[in-house]
Amino acid sequence: MNAPTRAATLFGAGTLPKVAWGKGSYVQDTAGKRYIDGSCGPAAYCIGHGNEEVNAAIARQLDKIAHGYRYTFTSDPLEELSDIVRTQAGDGLDRMVFVTGGSEATESCLKVALQYHAARGDTSRRRFIARERSWHGNTLGALSVSGFKERRAPFEGALLDVSHLSPVNAYRPPANVLPEDVGRACATELEQEILRIGPDKVAAFIFEPVVGAAGGAVPAPPGYARAVREICDRYGVLMIADEVMCGIGRCGTWRALAHDGVVPDLMAIAKGLAGGYLPLGAAVYHGKVAEPILAVHGAPLTGHTFSAHTACCAAGVAVQTIIKRDKLVDRVHDNGPKLMQMVRDALHGIDAVGDIRGRGYFIGIEFVADRATKEPFPADLQLFARIRQTAFDDGLICYPVGGNVDGVNGDIVIIAPPYNATDGELTEITGKFARAARKALASIGHG
Ligand SMILES: Cc1ncc(COP(=O)(O)O)c(C=O)c1O
Repeated sequence: MNAPTRAATLFGAGTLPKVAWGKGSYVQDTAGKRYIDGSCGPAAYCIGHGNEEVNAAIARQLDKIAHGYRYTFTSDPLEELSDIVRTQAGDGLDRMVFVTGGSEATESCLKVALQYHAARGDTSRRRFIARERSWHGNTLGALSVSGFKERRAPFEGALLDVSHLSPVNAYRPPANVLPEDVGRACATELEQEILRIGPDKVAAFIFEPVVGAAGGAVPAPPGYARAVREICDRYGVLMIADEVMCGIGRCGTWRALAHDGVVPDLMAIAKGLAGGYLPLGAAVYHGKVAEPILAVHGAPLTGHTFSAHTACCAAGVAVQTIIKRDKLVDRVHDNGPKLMQMVRDALHGIDAVGDIRGRGYFIGIEFVADRATKEPFPADLQLFARIRQTAFDDGLICYPVGGNVDGVNGDIVIIAPPYNATDGELTEITGKFARAARKALASIGHG
């Protein structure tokens, strides 16, 4: 039998506590143990747990009707949420298909991109370009564009033929590239790949503006996104920003790419949209992408039975209303540097800390065996999982990322607190995290 995957080691069946309830930044299990949610689970529960306003909004909607099928009815929550997304996204990103999560959102972005080219008679544009060490989801299309070795492995041979470019990471530049040249070199690599394939065959380039689950909160260097925008425009290639993890305020701007002053053609959002209260995501696209589709096909040919589910949209409206009313994106923006400093201070003196990076409330801590050479710890030590488990035992939830170096090696943990966490809670999160890191490192003889 093959060795268990890292996912199996991390989330082994039968060993998990049973969740009982959550309130604010805290979760409690049925044995009475309390955890502080330092990563909003998988960077989803952006306003914390058990919010009474959101719960009441969902209950009110359920009392009226749970779901009005999108081909039969529109609804107040659907129209209100569409307006909110349109306003927050801005810059012509005013069309959308609501779905139930991130994979469906990226899948729909891929399909809308293909449909756009088909509607324009550009039917040879079928190829996607993406990046290594990226995660776009678990459906076959989203998995095909993902550069996540372990999650792809059992499905290789059945995935779409996609070009995967170098990860864009200043801490681990591509071979023979200086850290300060990473953005330019990686943008040039995109242009070269478009030319190699033939611009008339490329449908879209998809990337995470700040890489999450496969890289560990890695922002692209300044100028990269703008260069990508120019290259995509030059060759008629659509730009898809996967903001499922980094968007909706997580990085201090509602759209993560707004930080770079760049507008994508399509954008996938999910996690923070309804904050985990109900499953919700969206493929958002620019009016110019919609135009030929509406003219030729009448509508985007994507979506599902539960697309624009009425109660899910009501949850989205309630969460987004709180985010706006309580100025939580500003809070993340303003407090982000402080949180980063708290993480740095808490980890001070640990020589296995190779890199601390991120933006807003999305911070990745990379651990290395040798800080000078950036050599990772041996993969079989599973340091990232040990830290996560040690933290969990001590009542802290954080998000583990393994394999960022080459698909196998590499140990990172992500801290991604709720936007409305108090200063005291941020201190608890960073303190417990540092304690867990020291203890886990000691357990592998790296004290
Ligand atoms: C950037 C990104 N895209 C897509 C997905 C897939 O989202 P979901 O798990 O909701 O299907 C994820 C999930 O972690 C993600 O981080």
